[in-house]
Amino acid sequence: MNLVSIIGTRPQYIKLASILSAIKKSSINHLIIDTGQHYDTEMTEIFYNQFGIDKPHYNLGVGSMNQIEQVDKISKELEKLLLNLCLDGIIVYGDTNSTVAASLTASKLSIPIFHIESGLRSFNRSMPEEINRLVTDHLSALLFCPSKKSVQNLKAEGITNNVYCVGDVMYDVFLRFKDRFIKSFNHKFSLLTIHRQENTMIDNFIKRIEQVEELDEDIIFPVHPRTMKLIKENSINIPDKIELVQPMGWLELMGTINNAQYIITDSGGMQKEAFWSKKLCITLRDETEWTETVDLHTNILVGLNDSIDLSKFDKSGFRNIAGLYGNGNAAKKIIRRIISYIKHD
Ligand code: UD1
Repeated sequence: MNLVSIIGTRPQYIKLASILSAIKKSSINHLIIDTGQHYDTEMTEIFYNQFGIDKPHYNLGVGSMNQIEQVDKISKELEKLLLNLCLDGIIVYGDTNSTVAASLTASKLSIPIFHIESGLRSFNRSMPEEINRLVTDHLSALLFCPSKKSVQNLKAEGITNNVYCVGDVMYDVFLRFKDRFIKSFNHKFSLLTIHRQENTMIDNFIKRIEQVEELDEDIIFPVHPRTMKLIKENSINIPDKIELVQPMGWLELMGTINNAQYIITDSGGMQKEAFWSKKLCITLRDETEWTETVDLHTNILVGLNDSIDLSKFDKSGFRNIAGLYGNGNAAKKIIRRIISYIKHD
């Protein structure tokens, strides 16, 4: 069986690490194609090293550009490659431009698509990620959902065949590596990350900084390159209590989450990593795909014009960690299903 994983951004290396551990124990011949959507050392190489992922077989080196161009460039490069690889399927992860470009290309070439982290919806179509999720799910042959809610979302769009609720591959990785998290800060602090398109428009970013400044603790802010570019190009003043640091490797980030008071973020993955680490999460968005954590009151949504209301939190929600996003064996279930699909199709 010949499969390729198509990745290209920081969160996808984490998900790939989980799948690779299951693939190694199978008979699958597996290749990695990195689109090069992310390219800075702190956004790529650190992740390959920390998870022990071999160098990708192909790197398309597309880099940064506007969205349409990026999807176009990845698709064109992928078409040339995929045509020659004689594949039984491709594995795509999450909701990035690399994911949607790979899905469009594979579907035109009649190669089955296996989508990991299927069925998530924010119901906000101004988010590039929401469009990427919708298209990818509707083109996929097998849809692997991290939660019951994501299965329901697909059902509401008429997708019921080949949908499997397997749990979250990121939870697999969290459990596997939790003894290796690296703690780097000793004083009391909260952790901030901001990188989404809507929060990196200058006026919105300044509002977000003003909101966060109201919290008591000092704040550590590992800055995504997109956000750093905004800060530098506009000489945005960051208050002293917010310490800007380089993007962290995953083991450092997880160590920092585990030491922090609050996690303040617009990332999808960090909302769950906060939950699994029993840390309260302040999500700087109007809505989230990971509604379970909000329903349990361990995660609060803060719109652009809201103030942060810490009284909404309820730590008893952490009692529900076990099972909510699976049990740490999602990758194993996914690989078993893919093998069965290829054998019988
Ligand atoms: C992408 C994903 C998002 C994911 C995030 C994780 C899409 C639409 N979005 O957002 O879902 O949560 O990755 O980080 O695919 N840049 C660099 N160096 C890098 C990477 C990016 O300088 O290594 C800068 C560039 O200026 C670029 C900007 O960041 O223009 C945005 O990068 P892009 O790949 O478009 O999306 P992300 O914001 O990283």
